[in-house]
Amino acid sequence: MKRTILITGGAGFIGSHVVRLFVTKYPDYRIVNLDKLTYAGNLANLRDIEERPNYTFVRGDICDLEAMRELFRRYDIDGVIHLAAESHVDRSIKDPFTFARTNVLGTLSLLQAAREHWNGDWEGKRFYHISTDEVYGALEMDGGFFTETTRYDPHSPYSASKASSDHFVRAFHDTYGLPVVVTNCSNNYGPYQFPEKLIPLFINNIRHRKPLPVYGKGENVRDWLYVEDHARAIDLIFHKGKTAETYNIGGFNEWRNIDLVRVIVRTVDRLLGNPEGTSEKLITFVTDRAGHDLRYAIDSSKLKNELGWEPSLQFEEGIEKTVRWYLDNQPWMDSITSGEYEDYYRKMYEFL
Ligand code: NAD
Ligand code: DAU
Repeated sequence: MKRTILITGGAGFIGSHVVRLFVTKYPDYRIVNLDKLTYAGNLANLRDIEERPNYTFVRGDICDLEAMRELFRRYDIDGVIHLAAESHVDRSIKDPFTFARTNVLGTLSLLQAAREHWNGDWEGKRFYHISTDEVYGALEMDGGFFTETTRYDPHSPYSASKASSDHFVRAFHDTYGLPVVVTNCSNNYGPYQFPEKLIPLFINNIRHRKPLPVYGKGENVRDWLYVEDHARAIDLIFHKGKTAETYNIGGFNEWRNIDLVRVIVRTVDRLLGNPEGTSEKLITFVTDRAGHDLRYAIDSSKLKNELGWEPSLQFEEGIEKTVRWYLDNQPWMDSITSGEYEDYYRKMYEFL
């Protein structure tokens, strides 16, 4: 069966992996990647698949309701995988309004455009919203796991905006019957992540002998999942997940930041041929992030029990692959840190 699937935010980190998976695995689907190409959007992430006949890129802003209506009309979209968002917590602390606009109002525009286009004919339709474990707030060190029924308790402007968007998605199901599904995932890592996030930032800083700014004492804990495992989960849930359900996605892989940083340091030193311990001295403890959530940990047993998904990679293997990828793809990183990538793609595409 042919389908037309809209993937929003496909030029970003996770979105590019989801686009690649769908374009290659489903040659019968038409995949429309809608992205505004903000600072975080980089079409170099998709160079290997951009010529595929079942792939189309459209530059557009999810906040522009008229443009979203036109997009649904033009491509007759029947499935949505919505990843477009402002995603970085530190930026949300500096500029909360952009997060409210994109994550809340942008999601609302997309929901409205889908509802109008599908117009009550929900057969074969699905609106899949990608969210985060940060909506659940923070756990104590020995405080168990987030499950799908954990009460929402967001602390940062980023997580507050994602929580709000999740509520709008569920409200569109409860009020209008829109067939939605929501997932809340833990920290992703892997190739093509923008180097403002901990892992690519630190790999790049080690390469340039720059300080590694660890917030606070480095005691905060995150649960890390390899990005391709997240993309596999998204594929499974898009096709097999139950309408109106929520699924948590996580790696059962908790790391204290400082321990993770030491693993990164050791791995980069080894792969660069530096004597062990060379880059340890770059670790610098800096002022903590405001409202820094102590610990996130996801219980993804619902997804395992109902749909059979499990992370496929051991963390050691995933980190090794990731560090190697960044070291082997220095032109990708350098085009971002020099700013060259932004002008290049933005000039190529008009807004819808
Ligand atoms: P990212 O910042 O790498 O990419 C976001 C993409 O969205 C970019 O390509 C950007 O250009 C696009 N975008 C931003 N505003 C837009 C707008 N107004 N209109 C159209 N496109 C716009 O983000 P990511 O890390 O890949 O995260 C993707 C999604 O997954 C987000 O919704 C995020 O909340 C969620 N998520 C991320 C993680 C993680 O660890 N990175 C974990 C759980 C959930
Ligand atoms: O949990 C899922 C979330 O994971 C996603 O929803 C977000 O989009 C994604 O950005 C990520 O949020 P984090 O804030 O956890 O990721 P980040 O890489 O920014 O930080 C990871 C941890 O490392 C966090 O505890 C803060 C810390 N940190 C981060 C940076 C950038 C540092 O100590 N130093 C740094 O320079």
